[in-house]
Amino acid sequence: MKKYEISFPKQETRVITCKSIHYVREIRKVFPDKTELFLLTDRNVFSLYNEHIRQFINSFSKLIVEVIPPGERSKNMSNLKKILNKLAEKGFSRNTLFVTMGGGVIGDIGGLSASIYMRGVDLIHIPTTLLSQIDSAFGGKTAVNLSYGKNLAGSFHNAKLILLNNEYLTTHNNRLWIEGLAEMIKYAVGFDKMLFLELEDFLLSSQNFNEVNWDKWIEKCYKLKMSICLEDPDEKSNRVLLNIGHTIGHALEKLKQFRLSHGKSVLFGIIEEAKISRKFHFLSIEEEQRIVNLINSREFLKIRLRPSLESITANIKWDKKRRDINMLFPVIDSIGSSHIEYIKLDKLIKLILSKD
Ligand SMILES: NC(=O)c1ccc[n+]([C@@H]2O[C@H](COP(=O)([O-])OP(=O)(O)OC[C@H]3O[C@@H](n4cnc5c(N)ncnc54)[C@H](O)[C@@H]3O)[C@@H](O)[C@H]2O)c1
Repeated sequence: MKKYEISFPKQETRVITCKSIHYVREIRKVFPDKTELFLLTDRNVFSLYNEHIRQFINSFSKLIVEVIPPGERSKNMSNLKKILNKLAEKGFSRNTLFVTMGGGVIGDIGGLSASIYMRGVDLIHIPTTLLSQIDSAFGGKTAVNLSYGKNLAGSFHNAKLILLNNEYLTTHNNRLWIEGLAEMIKYAVGFDKMLFLELEDFLLSSQNFNEVNWDKWIEKCYKLKMSICLEDPDEKSNRVLLNIGHTIGHALEKLKQFRLSHGKSVLFGIIEEAKISRKFHFLSIEEEQRIVNLINSREFLKIRLRPSLESITANIKWDKKRRDINMLFPVIDSIGSSHIEYIKLDKLIKLILSKD
């Protein structure tokens, strides 16, 4: 893995791709005088990568490693309170460096803790899942879930430094690959035809996951996300495009009461939204088929569910992109290009239910 650095000065975010032995050196370049470090991780990441964490031990005079249980259920108010209390109890000051090391769950709850402890301390993300390396670590969104729904309490707090390391992909199981690939395919379909062609070459071949240059694709994806977030930091317009596959995907997740993985739901959503884009007379039938073929290219990615579209449309009204009776809906024009349609919700539902 080649070490390299990319800066996003407007967000004050630096992204460094490097091996774990360089983490402390890279942190010191950005934060030469910090002495207090609070590192949040989960049990799985800690047991797989505690060697990486050990490298921090002698570099800060005050260091706490807080390990919480893995999984979405940990992204809650009770853990948030525990983290904040631990920071206060151990006397961490406003000069604290808050480091998250884990997937999107750790990044989200850690990011929120860093954004509100003493009204905000500096944040570093070390994302360890493909999804967090191309998506959740970027853009500054933080959150915990409430009993009423996902991500209902949160804030915007950009990390000053993001350390990327493809070694974490070596311990991915199929579930983690699905979560990450669903978002990567979304970027390719909506914004980057070259990425789509490269993913096609890879996924439709019999190449192994450890034989490809993930760094190149990861960089394409997070640069896309950062440029869109920069254009639309408050999610008023273009950031909605990052929701390709998520209108139908979220409705399906809700229908299945969150027992179906987010990644599978989004993949299903991309296929259905490609169909809607074709019915809108934007996407050609040939390109729609290429998207379907890409998603069905590998056994573990294949979409086997056939939920009724009526039951899915019944859940669309909960979508955050709804504005009264209208909906902001991302449409795929052609592979690699997309735009937002402001459409009446009942018209969108009719389109979804209409025969081909
Ligand atoms: N803030 C944002 O902009 C944003 C964007 C997308 C998703 N999210 C959030 O991200 C979360 C999902 O993130 P996720 O998919 O990374 O899930 P996750 O953080 O729950 O991680 C999934 C599982 O993988 C394990 N794990 C982490 N790294 C590993 C590794 N290298 N090898 C093996 N196992 C590893 C974790 O312990 C966990 O059990 C959701 O809560 C979602 O809301 C946030």
